[in-house]
Amino acid sequence: MVPRYGPQPKVSLKGLLLLPVMPLVWVVRGVKRRRDRQKNKLQREILDLRREIKGLRRINMELMNGKERAEISDQRKSEFLARITHELRTPLNAVVGFADLVRQEPYGELGNPKYGEYLTDIRSTSAHMLDLVNDLLDVAKIEAGHIEMRESWASVPNILDDCRRLMTADASAGGIELVVKTAPDLPALHCDPGRVRQIVVNLLSNSVKFTPKGGRITIAARPDRVGGIVMRIEDTGIGIPRDALEDVFEPYTQVRANHLVKGQQGSGLGLSLVRILADLHQATLGIESVERQGTTVTVRFPPTRVGRAT
Ligand SMILES: Nc1ncnc2c1ncn2[C@@H]1O[C@H](COP(=O)(O)OP(=O)(O)OP(=O)(O)O)[C@@H](O)[C@H]1O
Ligand SMILES: [Mg+2]
Repeated sequence: MVPRYGPQPKVSLKGLLLLPVMPLVWVVRGVKRRRDRQKNKLQREILDLRREIKGLRRINMELMNGKERAEISDQRKSEFLARITHELRTPLNAVVGFADLVRQEPYGELGNPKYGEYLTDIRSTSAHMLDLVNDLLDVAKIEAGHIEMRESWASVPNILDDCRRLMTADASAGGIELVVKTAPDLPALHCDPGRVRQIVVNLLSNSVKFTPKGGRITIAARPDRVGGIVMRIEDTGIGIPRDALEDVFEPYTQVRANHLVKGQQGSGLGLSLVRILADLHQATLGIESVERQGTTVTVRFPPTRVGRAT
C-alpha cells in the first residue's frame, strides 16, 4: 500500500462535532422537502376547490332564479283558477235557483210532466257541478294563499250536530243510520267552525257514498290523552284496500272508478281538501279501513287549540 503524502483535507473541529448529528440533519431536510411538496399540493387543491365553489355558486343562483320563476307562475296559475272558479259559481247558482223556481211552477203549469223530470236532472247535475267548483275554488284559494280563517272558540257538539243535520237526508235516502256520540263536558275548540264543518261533512259524504243500505255511520268526539280533541267518523261501508290507503289524501285519487260504485259521482278532491283544512288547524289525520267492513277517519286537534269545558 502506497502511503499518501501531501496536504491532508482540513477537518474542522465544528465539522467533527457535527458529524454524529448529520444523519439527523438529513432526516430533517427530507421531512421539510416532503412537507413543502405536500404544501404545494394542498395549495393547488385549494385553488381547484375555490374554482369549484365559484361554479357551484353560479349554478345555485341559476337554480334559485328558475325556482322563483316557477313559483311565480304556479302562484299565477292558482290565482287564475281561483278567479275562474269564482266566476263559474255565479251562473251555476243561477241555474240551480231557476231550475228550482220553474219546477215549482209559480207562473203556471209546465204542461208535460217530462219537463219536470228534465228540470230535476238540470238541478241535480248543476248542483253537483257547483259542489265540484266550490271544492276547486277552495283548493285554488288555499294554494294561492288567499284562504281566510275566521277563528273563534266553538262548541264541538254544536258543530257535529250541524253536520248531522246537513247529512241526515242523504243518509236516510241511502238507508243508513247516522249517530252522534260526544263526550260530556267536551272543552271548546279554537277553530274556524265553518272549515271544521267542511272537514266533517266531506268525511260524512264519503261514508254515505261508500256505505251500502242498512249500514251505520258514527260521528264521535272526545278529549285525548295529551289534552287535545279527537273526532272520529266511522262507517260500516265497503272499505279501502290496504295498498290504497296511503294515497287517498292525494288530490284526484279515487280507489275504484266511481262508476263501479253504483250511481256515485266525485272528483277525488274531498279528502285532499280535508287534509289541507286539517293542516290549517294543525290537526293530524288518521285513517283505518278494512275492505267490506268499514272505514274510520280520525281528526286530532292539538292541546293548543283546546280550551275550557263547554
Ligand atoms: N269512507 C270511505 N269508504 C270507502 N272508500 C272511501 C271512503 N272515503 C274515501 N274513500 C275512497 O277514497 C277516494 C278519495 O276520496 P275523496 O273524498 O277524496 O274523493 P271522492 O269522494 O271520490 O270525490 P269528491 O269528494 O271530490 O266528491 C274515494 O273515491 C274512495 O275510493
Ligand atoms: Mg269525497
